[in-house]
Formats: sequence, structure tokens, C-alpha cells
Amino acid sequence: MAAKIIDGKALAADLRARIAAGVAKLERKPGLAVILVGENPASVSYVTAKEKACAEAGMVSREIRLPADVAEAALVGIIRDLNADKAIDGILVQLPLPSHIRGQAVIDAIAPEKDVDGFTPVNLGRMMIGEECFIPCTPHGIVKLIEFSGMDISGRHAVVVGRSNIVGKPVAQLLASKRLNATVTVCHSGTRDLGAFTREADILVVAAGRPGTITADMVKRGATIIDVGVNRIPDPTRPKGFRLAGDVDFAACSEVAAAITPVPGGVGPMTITMLLWNTLESARRAQRR
Ligand code: GUN
Repeated sequence: MAAKIIDGKALAADLRARIAAGVAKLERKPGLAVILVGENPASVSYVTAKEKACAEAGMVSREIRLPADVAEAALVGIIRDLNADKAIDGILVQLPLPSHIRGQAVIDAIAPEKDVDGFTPVNLGRMMIGEECFIPCTPHGIVKLIEFSGMDISGRHAVVVGRSNIVGKPVAQLLASKRLNATVTVCHSGTRDLGAFTREADILVVAAGRPGTITADMVKRGATIIDVGVNRIPDPTRPKGFRLAGDVDFAACSEVAAAITPVPGGVGPMTITMLLWNTLESARRAQRR
């Protein structure tokens, strides 16, 4: 039997309506600064989608586009100014950055109370010890999707493929938290016999950045699969010259799994939604102060 499709678009639409209602109650509209360095096509497309979503939720987005050769010190200076700007509740620096800029130095410059991506060491550290923080958007969206699928996470075995600071590490941390209570295995590019681990997964979160990482023989019957991959596959029959594919062989794996997220329309819309969520939360906190 084919797996149930976990519809990220539908869940995102529902949450975004609730976020817009929260925004409407505030005296001052939440402000999100989005910094894009260079013209990486995927980054341009993410940033455009984030700005559109902001406007639809009644928030103000301020786009700051910088040339690919901008100096690290100049970028840090812009972030410091935004840290002090009362109209700005959230600061997002689209990653990846060009190689002459130290990504961590830039993230470290963001004030933790405006770090709506949840990437600063302060927010990641708070998440680690279970304190109030901004949870990184993609991991937060993944948890919402698993809960939305109706699955009881507690006591289940979750296998996370990927150990990035943006997805793999934080999602593993969240799933293993007291609240969610999963048993978590983290696999990565150094894992020998990946399939031996993924076949043991009740919940399989795949953030490897490589299409075809998970084939049907690597999936336990009845598993829930969250595919975080967004890969552009050249396809001359498409208007843009490419199609999107995840890291999971969707057609074959949906014959084995109980539930699966599609690409596009799964994790992607939820990442942006949780960014809006964090920005609203930041604005609420600022307006309480
Ligand atoms: N690049 C890929 N994903 C993300 C994200 O969630 N936030 C930022 N800032 N950059 C990214």
C-alpha cells in the first residue's frame, strides 16, 4: 500500500493563518531583515520565498543584498546596526556565504534575541539544555510534520542521516529531548553500511544533500520518512531547466513506508513557516519589554 503523504503545504497554510492572526494583534508589525550575499540561484529563490511569506503574514521584510565580494567586516557592521534597530525583530543571513567570509563569525554577530534562525551558539546551547530559545526553523518544521502525521514519537527509534549545524544536529537533539522522547541514531558521510541503521528506523529524517541516498531496501516497513533534501536535477522539459528531488527515492520508498513527505511540498514550506513563527515570537517579546 502506498504511504500517506505528509502535506507540508497544508500544515504550513494552517500555521501561517494563525501567525497572521497573531501579527494582527500587535501594535507594531514584526520586522525581519534578510541579508543575501551574492547571487547563488537557490539562495535567491529561498530569500524571495521568505519575503513573500513575510508580506502575506503582515510582517515587514527588509531585504539587504550585498555583492559576493563584500568584506566580512562590512557584513558584521551591517548586522550590528540591525541589532540596534528597534524596527527589526529578526535577522537572517542566508547561508551558504562566500568562502572568504567566516560563516560562524557572521552568525556570532547576530544578537541572540533577534536570531530567528536559531543558529547562534547562545540559542543552540539553550536548546541543548532545554531552555527557552529560538529553535532552528527546519528542525522545528520537521518535528511539527511528524506530530501532524499523527505518529507518537515517544519511545520510537529515530535515525537522522546528516550532521549539519542547520538540520542534522539540532533535529537529533530535539527528537531526543524529554518532551519528544525518541531514541536517536545520527548517521553521516562516515557511516559504514548506512542501510543497516536506516532499516531500524521508525522515523527516518534524511538531510544528506544527495539525491538517491535512501532507496526502498533501506526502509523499514511502516516507517515515517521526512525528506529534507532539495536537489536541482537538470530537466530540459521543465520551464526552469530543472526539477526538484529530495534525498529519498520517493516512488519506491512510498511503497514501504507508512508516511512520507514529498519534495517539493513537504519540509520546505514548513521551514519558512517556522521562520515566521520565530519572528512573531521575537516581536511579541520586544513589545512586552
Ligand atoms: N540555508 C539553507 N537553509 C537555511 C536556513 O534555514 N537559514 C539560513 N539563514 N540559510 C539557510
